[in-house]
Amino acid sequence: MAKVRGKKEAKLSKSKHKLTEAQIAVHWKEEQYFRPSKKFIAQANLKDPAFVKKFSERYFPECFDHYANLLDWDQPWRKTLDTSNPPFWKWFVGGKVNACYNCVDRHIAKHKNKAALIFVPEPENEPPLVITYQELYKRVNEVAAMLRDFAQLKSGDRVTIHMPMIPELPITMLACARLGIVHSVVFGGFSGEACGLRAADSGSRVLIYADSYYRNGKKIDHKGDADIAVATAEKEGQNIDKVLIWRRYAGHNTSEAPMIMGRDFYVDEVLKDFAGQTIEPVSQDADTPLFLMYTSGTTGKPKGCQHRTGGYLAYVTGTARYYQDIHPEDVYWCMADIGWITGHSYIVYGPLALAATSVLYEGVPQFPDAGRPWRIAERLDVNIFHTSPTAIRMLRKAGADEPKKYNYHFKHMTTVGEPIEPEVWKWYHEVVGKREAVIVDTWWQTETGGFLITTKPALDLMKPGSAGPAALGIYPAIWDETRREIKPGEDAAGNLCIRNPWPGIMQTIWGDPERFVKQYYSKYRKNPKSKKWQDWPYFAGDGAMVSADGYYRILGRVDDVINVAGHRLGTKEIESACLTCSKVAEAAVVPVVDEVKGRVPEVYISLKPGILPKKAVEDKVIATIETMIGKIARPKMIHIVPDMPKTRSGKIMRRVLAAISNTMDTGDITTLANPDIVEQIRVLVQGRHVGPLKEGPADIKMFGEET
Ligand code: WT7
Repeated sequence: MAKVRGKKEAKLSKSKHKLTEAQIAVHWKEEQYFRPSKKFIAQANLKDPAFVKKFSERYFPECFDHYANLLDWDQPWRKTLDTSNPPFWKWFVGGKVNACYNCVDRHIAKHKNKAALIFVPEPENEPPLVITYQELYKRVNEVAAMLRDFAQLKSGDRVTIHMPMIPELPITMLACARLGIVHSVVFGGFSGEACGLRAADSGSRVLIYADSYYRNGKKIDHKGDADIAVATAEKEGQNIDKVLIWRRYAGHNTSEAPMIMGRDFYVDEVLKDFAGQTIEPVSQDADTPLFLMYTSGTTGKPKGCQHRTGGYLAYVTGTARYYQDIHPEDVYWCMADIGWITGHSYIVYGPLALAATSVLYEGVPQFPDAGRPWRIAERLDVNIFHTSPTAIRMLRKAGADEPKKYNYHFKHMTTVGEPIEPEVWKWYHEVVGKREAVIVDTWWQTETGGFLITTKPALDLMKPGSAGPAALGIYPAIWDETRREIKPGEDAAGNLCIRNPWPGIMQTIWGDPERFVKQYYSKYRKNPKSKKWQDWPYFAGDGAMVSADGYYRILGRVDDVINVAGHRLGTKEIESACLTCSKVAEAAVVPVVDEVKGRVPEVYISLKPGILPKKAVEDKVIATIETMIGKIARPKMIHIVPDMPKTRSGKIMRRVLAAISNTMDTGDITTLANPDIVEQIRVLVQGRHVGPLKEGPADIKMFGEET
């Protein structure tokens, strides 16, 4: 396959306008285009240019009827988009639909014997488990019957699910969807305490757990987290009536934690009473919530992104079809965790709505060695692969030549969740994809439900490091702080926004509609009274640039969010955890560039008067972060400093600390109340010598602009 030079080489012209704070110019080399392999062009689901045209702005919002038409509706919608109460959009108004029916029941007639899920356990001596659509139908029905008749749950109730990557997780989610129960899945790597807080916020009175699971060769005892979650929720005023526990091996206990009589139940035992039961899917209004997904933001408290049934399902089904390019004969493997939005949209709902075969892998990619993913791909004949830059970097580091040893062929590969370095992209393309596979670099967020920026697989030229043009029916814009538009090819970065609503956008923040408006819409809305969608652009919280060819390059978060291995952590959440340690006076958390994980948090603390900076304090802070949030938030370093660099109004200048941690220029510090502290901290962190300063990535420069 030949590399070709871009037809329209982006012109990096200097902006005539004076740059504002958020518009930090980023000089990056324009990468050459890669042409998709011819082999797959003819079969691409999006190959009809007439279909693509149907999503141009003049057909908005009805263009999205094409996505909704991929579903079976119990009752058709009257109106595609209702904008009468911005930004609380309603999609497919009057329509009735059931998400479980669309992912399971409707496939029985034609595909009952097809693999819906293939579960690959982490221990390599346990064989893969195939769940056909027929089996999925049976299991989902039994679980739904249990949720309704044993747990007494009904449409609109919330249930918190804290489970690892085992097939019982999607089965439980679909059982909830069958009844209209709003599921809130908490990533397995979060602590029991983090789960309890989320359960309390959502008002769940039932928790669903697993007793244990395998991760990196170890059996992780998970049931104990349930006890912590219940205690935490109760402290927050939310009583938990029942904890339902799936056992990794039905009939066998693999957890040390005791069962609490009358509260804890093994699902495999309870299900005996529901064997063979079927219950009708409960038809839902298109706008009833389907699930909550908690994510980190700028405040200490994670927010529950509330996703709707009809619009969300239509959007993920459409984007799975056109951008994951799934065909009936494909074996599709998204190596993400269902506990994140990627797994919800592109392991469970999107692929299953398309009657695809979706692979579910329990463990970590490099267990027992870096060849594992490629053995799985060879064994199952996976031909569509989906993962994150962190996993790609990890696998490249641990075994750059491993993929060559295995006989698998991907036609399509996705990267998602963080910016991918061109170097890493090229390895993914050349070695993992064997130069045959097309790559889509998909930019989106928990809030957006599905892909917003990506190339059309097999059709658009690919440019390493750039996500690409907007997806069908999505109209982005980049504005600076003064709302001046950054034009394609301009040598400046700004805030990435989407000018229009789309069906996959979250409905609101659970229980906090004001925060929803403030967070995403108050910055760029033109007129708070306007009922026109044109006046309500969505502010994504990412810095971006767009080159002359219209390809977007995502630079990273402009707010207090750190993207660790493609997962979002709020600096404020970590700081609040630090401040619960009695010896800590102040805490500041900053992102540090990490070769594998992209960014990791580093923690600065100052201690209360009279407390000595001992290792024990550091250990305590780390342990507290792990207990309150989870191992995922473990900081790379803890720096105990005599004082924080502060503005005259007393705000901690995280930007200065981030510059020190990343060996970057600290910028102008003359306006600080205590400029002398900066050199003291620098020596503490970097040592006596003054090393060469780095240019540093844009998100770290933009980070924490609290001047
Ligand atoms: C943040 C959203 C998208 C689902 C998984 C993460 C970053 C996401 C890309 C990409 C560069 C990306 C953004 C975004 N991000 N995709 N292709 N290139 N950055 O969802 O946890 O809600 O995080 O991830 O910064 O805002 P999330």
